[in-house]
Amino acid sequence: MQPMARFLITSALPYINGIKHLGNLAGSMLPADAHARFRRLQGHEVLFLCATDEHGTPAELAAAEAGQDVRAYCDAQFAIQKQACDGFALSFDHFGRSSSPQNRALTQAFAEALEENGLIEERVSKQIYSIADGRFLPDRYVEGTCPKCGFERARGDQCDSCGSLLDPVDLRNPRSKISGSTQLEVRDTAHLFLLQPKMQERIRAWVDRAEDWPSLARSIAYKWLDEGLIDRAITRDLSWGVPVLGREGPRPGFENKVFYVWFDAPIEYIACAQEAGVDWARWWRTDQGAGDVTYIQFMGKDNVAFHTVSFPVTIMGSNQPWKLVDRLKAFNWVTWYGGKFSTSEKRGIFMDQALDVLPSDCWRWHLLANAPESADSAFTLEALQLGVNSDLANVFGNLINRITRFCAARFESKVPGGGAPGERETALAQRLAAGITALTAHHEAMEFRKAAAELRALWAIGNEYLQIAAPWTAIKTDPEAAALGVRTGLNLCAVLAILSQPFIPDAAGAVLDGLGVPMKNRNWPIASDMGLLDALPRGLAITPPELLFKKIEDAQIAQWAEQFGAG
Ligand code: MF3
Ligand code: ZN
Repeated sequence: MQPMARFLITSALPYINGIKHLGNLAGSMLPADAHARFRRLQGHEVLFLCATDEHGTPAELAAAEAGQDVRAYCDAQFAIQKQACDGFALSFDHFGRSSSPQNRALTQAFAEALEENGLIEERVSKQIYSIADGRFLPDRYVEGTCPKCGFERARGDQCDSCGSLLDPVDLRNPRSKISGSTQLEVRDTAHLFLLQPKMQERIRAWVDRAEDWPSLARSIAYKWLDEGLIDRAITRDLSWGVPVLGREGPRPGFENKVFYVWFDAPIEYIACAQEAGVDWARWWRTDQGAGDVTYIQFMGKDNVAFHTVSFPVTIMGSNQPWKLVDRLKAFNWVTWYGGKFSTSEKRGIFMDQALDVLPSDCWRWHLLANAPESADSAFTLEALQLGVNSDLANVFGNLINRITRFCAARFESKVPGGGAPGERETALAQRLAAGITALTAHHEAMEFRKAAAELRALWAIGNEYLQIAAPWTAIKTDPEAAALGVRTGLNLCAVLAILSQPFIPDAAGAVLDGLGVPMKNRNWPIASDMGLLDALPRGLAITPPELLFKKIEDAQIAQWAEQFGAG
């Protein structure tokens, strides 16, 4: 047994506005969960955190559209997202909210430390003011004609038609997104700027040492560093967010401003641990025990720069002993039949809808087995059907079903004694050991596709063993051989269910319950343990689990294709 270690695991925080689609789930929260489960099973101490990312313009705009007060809107959306996460068995130790009092206080404390260290400066810049609305407009609150392509509904920060990044002052015929008013003028306003270039060399030295990062993450970080970090505005003209403080009360000139959402969101990783009511400093402060923590972050590739450069500037710039990320797992996109998931155009499947049509394990298996690791991965209902029907129902489900039912019918639902292991069992044990070694290595490397492929292969050897041991035939002539086959088969099912827990926790749990495996014996097995295939006590009563996986019919696929706008 390797000595116990400590893992802090975070998933990128989902935006509060709207329930997430399967692509969001597959590209961060779900693999993070599989890894957290794996590390817990290995006996390590894990703190697995996630939260909703609640501030910023999208939340304000979505609330306005829903005709709700922002806080009420966020409360409702948080409850919806939390329920969906529970439905997918995401085993967060805490699912927090970036709008928490803890995050507010911590964000303000970071800003204060950064300012003391000369890394924050107040600067005046030009910004669009709406006379009708009586306020400055953040980039996304300005709409107008794109100066590059002439698209009439370009946003102040970006044109959705040609993709150009824009400055709102460059839009032609600009108007307020709040009131539609065109009575706009450019005025001077103050904002806080984070002087990132001052941290450039420290960040680079840190990235140089980050040998555990995958090459995708390092190359994105170097790209930013090579282009040169720039001073970045970390305040916005909004009312929903973390208020900007001065010596006493609001900072003068910042009464109607808050911190930029990308400044406070990653700080929520820390605040979330405070919300969780655990001894958070042990996980986050290297001066208080976090020195031996391995911190792993999961995220989509668009988030990498924020996690490898921007957030580290905040953390390191504070000159306080915060834990920094050790390993980082970034994902490409899951596409909907090669195109984009789209909430507005009703294309794709969202987390709540998914659970209405299939149990969470089916989704978990399919999404993890096809994780967008080295490239984008196209989700199709047809591939989902194939994965569920062949891998889960035909291979894993069928194995469990056959052996437990046969044991119930012919061995009084008890693990039989009798029969001595022979060559066949030795070969099986060796194959199992090799499989466990490989599967463990894939999980440790966070290679989810490879882990799924190895697990699938192990499920298949179970069926192969039963095919040749054939206790259903042996029982007629050689009851000892049949007993051996059944006992070995049941033990194999237990080991396979244990190994399946990170991917399909519900079904694996049902199998282990049926086989009477106590919680304390569900830990990750050691490959060299030669007793794995004889671990269940002889005479132990078992109960065949209910049908584990129902096959997906063609008619269901046709119906979902219609419902979710497939193809
Ligand atoms: N909400 C962001 C997104 O979905 C991710 C925020 S991650 C954090 O892209 F680090 F800022 F928390
Ligand atoms: Zn354009």
